[in-house]
Amino acid sequence: MRSEETRVGDVVLPSVVMTAAGTSGYGDELAGYGDLAELGAIVTKSLAAFAWDGNAAPRVAASGQEMLNGVGLAGPGVGVWRSTYLPALERRGARVVGSIWGRTVAEFAQAAEAMRGANVIALEVNASCPNLETRSTMFAHSPGATGDVVAASKVAGIPLWVKLSPNTPELVEVAGAAIAAGADALVLVNTVLGLSIDIEKRSPSLGNGGGGVSGRAVLPVSLRAVYDCREAFADISIVGVGGISSGDDVVAMLMAGANAVEIGTATFANPRAPWIIQRQLRKWLKRHDVRNVCELIGVAHG
Ligand SMILES: Cc1cc2nc3c(=O)[nH]c(=O)nc-3n(C[C@H](O)[C@H](O)[C@H](O)COP(=O)(O)O)c2cc1C
Repeated sequence: MRSEETRVGDVVLPSVVMTAAGTSGYGDELAGYGDLAELGAIVTKSLAAFAWDGNAAPRVAASGQEMLNGVGLAGPGVGVWRSTYLPALERRGARVVGSIWGRTVAEFAQAAEAMRGANVIALEVNASCPNLETRSTMFAHSPGATGDVVAASKVAGIPLWVKLSPNTPELVEVAGAAIAAGADALVLVNTVLGLSIDIEKRSPSLGNGGGGVSGRAVLPVSLRAVYDCREAFADISIVGVGGISSGDDVVAMLMAGANAVEIGTATFANPRAPWIIQRQLRKWLKRHDVRNVCELIGVAHG
């Protein structure tokens, strides 16, 4: 019997494959394409304590292997999500990770507090969003601000994962601050800052101007982030996300040091992607006679 089970902090997952925040909505949008309970977990689109309209349209631009988005964290807020969307996930037996965001440290605390008592296996703190208190630099670009949002988002009894940005040369320092503040796991990484130009309109393609790049093109970026953080922190749990579109990519991410992975943009090309990738991973494990998927974690470090 082969084991596909993994552990992120103290949370046991039946599969290393999860969905990524913001790429499959708030609830059971993917349920028509596969059994949500078969996946490690479903990560919700990031939710604030309040409803938020997000950025002006257009919000996405796709080209080749990557995509650019500037959704701007539009959403109904934690309270409406709990009453309107979470029940559908519960009925399907999905394990749910609640992603939260805020514009200030206090707003992160409010979003986390609003999650208290919800049926979630973890909170994923999206620290890769603008910090209004420091004129819109990202929380995740500063070790101090990241430590602050992690500490503010701790809710007794709910494991806390922190999602970091690749757009900083200080990623390892930021990760260290998150761990020191009590994060149970690192989620690496959010999108890479980018821009596209509509040459007919002679202006940026997205309503917001710039956006975040995701999809296959960013796999080397996420692998590097995971590898560097695993090198620096032998014991912390890491979730790898960014550009994963095949079972081979999952294997590479595990070897770089991830305990689990999240699939985002690949689900736009094919909503069945998480299950297809899971099957490809299963075949790889069989072909290489790997009995326990966890044997692969970090092996690229020698
Ligand atoms: C349309 C879109 C919306 C996203 N929304 C969120 C979000 O709400 N919260 C978050 O933490 N990340 C969000 N992300 C980032 C993804 O979760 C993921 O980190 C990133 O896209 C890289 O993974 P991928 O290449 O597999 O998509 C979003 C990405 C896209 C493309």
